Amino acid sequence: MSLDELKVKNEACVDCEIGQIRTNLVFGEGNPESPLVIVGEGPGEEEDKTGRPFVGRAGKMLDQALADNGLSRSDVYICNTLKCRACETGSSGRLVNRPPTKEEVAQCRQWLVPQLAEIDPKVILCIGAPSAKNLIDKDFKITKERGKLFPCEYAKTAMAALHPAYVLRRSTQTYDGGYSLIVQDIGRAWEVALKLLEKEES
Ligand code: URA
Repeated sequence: MSLDELKVKNEACVDCEIGQIRTNLVFGEGNPESPLVIVGEGPGEEEDKTGRPFVGRAGKMLDQALADNGLSRSDVYICNTLKCRACETGSSGRLVNRPPTKEEVAQCRQWLVPQLAEIDPKVILCIGAPSAKNLIDKDFKITKERGKLFPCEYAKTAMAALHPAYVLRRSTQTYDGGYSLIVQDIGRAWEVALKLLEKEES
């Protein structure tokens, strides 16, 4: 099935409660021919509004980390563990983001796995723990194991990086919160992806 066909089917999905209340599905975008796929956690408010991955504050940081490696969104493919915004009604009565549940992650694999199979990337870069637990190892420890290469069922290899939202929460005037590690991990993932592509083409 092509990515476009998969997206049309995904748009009809209401298997979870969050699928029934979403504004927009956030399927993924970028270069489907890229050797590198970046898989985040799931849409937030801005992504739900626009239907595009990583367009809020965390997304701006991801764009900057790509740019610091001389890359742009059109060099990679970007998608998420969940296609719909995981949220609940907060004390103010407004919807607030919450972490994905195990059940939601398991349900949404019916879309993510064929999406990755269609793209067939050399490297998957998981952004944040839920993505790494889903695609690399259920017991993945993000702060200890980020930046290392792991075997992966859905690509030649996979790596994880800190999530920009986590980095934003930790950063202060004198500490970058781990931003430089995101830049470093994207650079390494891209370098490995290009090497694997070259090897295949030679
Ligand atoms: N965080 C994610 O993990 N994905 C998005 O699309 C936006 C924020």
